[in-house]
Amino acid sequence: MAQWQALGPEDMLSEGAMQRIDLDATAILLCKVRGVYYATQEHCPHLRVHLANGKLNGQVVTCPGHGSQFDVTTGACVAWVEGLPGIVRQAALAVAKPRDLTTYPTRLQDGQVWVLA
Ligand code: FES
Repeated sequence: MAQWQALGPEDMLSEGAMQRIDLDATAILLCKVRGVYYATQEHCPHLRVHLANGKLNGQVVTCPGHGSQFDVTTGACVAWVEGLPGIVRQAALAVAKPRDLTTYPTRLQDGQVWVLA
């Protein structure tokens, strides 16, 4: 059952930064976008590469594996396996349909960042 968990102080991330955080039951990707913390699953839904090793540009994280992109504010997939070349990408699309990231609610309380996960 999901429960609120404190992650760290309110200023734990600078603007535009992201960090993998391992919780008991799951790993999350915590991002700070326009002053707001967002939490999603940390593993890419394509082949489970660590999104924390990718790049966060605005509110879009790019997977270092094969270039899929996700909006961390909603979890929505905005590009799927864009980093694969032509026919390889077509094959990847045939076997793995685009998937969104699981998102987790966050809040600030008592000077801490909290996540419901
Ligand atoms: S593992 Fe992320 S796009 Fe393939």
